[in-house]
Amino acid sequence: MPNKQEETQYLAPIIACANHKGGVAKTTTVVNLAAEFSRKGCSVLVVDLDPQGNASSHIGKIDPNMYEKNAMNLFCDRNTRLDKRLVAELIQTDVNPGFENVSYIPSSEDMDSITETLRTKSNRPVEELKARLQLIRDVFDIILIDCPPSLNLLTGNAISAATHYIIPVDTSTDYSRSGLLRLANFIEYTSTDTNPDLMYLGALLTRHSASINAQKAVAFEVSSIEENMRGSTGNGGVLPVYIHNSSKVGEASILRVPVRKIARSNKVAEDYKNLAHFLMEKLALQKSMIDEVA
Ligand SMILES: Nc1ncnc2c1ncn2[C@@H]1O[C@H](COP(=O)(O)OP(=O)(O)O)[C@@H](O)[C@H]1O
Ligand SMILES: [Mg+2]
Repeated sequence: MPNKQEETQYLAPIIACANHKGGVAKTTTVVNLAAEFSRKGCSVLVVDLDPQGNASSHIGKIDPNMYEKNAMNLFCDRNTRLDKRLVAELIQTDVNPGFENVSYIPSSEDMDSITETLRTKSNRPVEELKARLQLIRDVFDIILIDCPPSLNLLTGNAISAATHYIIPVDTSTDYSRSGLLRLANFIEYTSTDTNPDLMYLGALLTRHSASINAQKAVAFEVSSIEENMRGSTGNGGVLPVYIHNSSKVGEASILRVPVRKIARSNKVAEDYKNLAHFLMEKLALQKSMIDEVA
């Protein structure tokens, strides 16, 4: 029988934002969602698994490569597997304005070399991240993982560690049906063994305009692929909130703040606010949330 404390222990959901296609707004989504969750009173952890470190440099004040320890240690430092304090040492809290309740684990330029290291040194190369994040799930309200633009061991680790995932699809550029199917196969193949309870939250249409016919066609095609992929669980589909296109997104990333910080009533800021609201209800985040500051 579990004791009372175990019954009531809160474990943060872990959402991976994945797509091997670059430039589809994975990082933009992670960064702005993190800010919106934080405005709603959640304590948020962002784990940056992309060697390019865009999420780290957007959220953090310091060049991610200046940190002695970073996400590499989540994979290569054996001691972090069992010691919560060592994982906690990797978490940074020195953040830019707009990310007040957000912490992050910075990535490193060397992360690409992890694949080789893990394949030779680990018995379970795809489950290293999972072991570490399990140790700190009770510390945060929500954990977001920014994935690199490839179907490698880093993305595999994210898929094994996550409780949920989102696939951003940019409807404003050339879109690949076969790419989406390949991604779905990779996720299914990886999670069947390592993470059978993984839940798909859905495809997130980004830079989307519902009034441009070509983009409408892409959205329609994505939703028909999604319908076919739903399977017996009924998970997934296209998320009910989509993200508009706005030049403020690029501006915010240059200034290293959430979009809301430079354009309060911007459509994209509103979209991410609505997406955070939707996800909070869907995931039933359990910590007491304060009213958002207007
Ligand atoms: N909703 C949006 N409107 C306009 N530009 C966007 C939007 N979302 C992302 N972008 C831009 O698209 C580019 C790629 O976004 P990014 O989040 O870095 O993608 P990924 O992490 O998938 O590679 C960036 O220059 C970003 O500023
Ligand atoms: Mg990115």
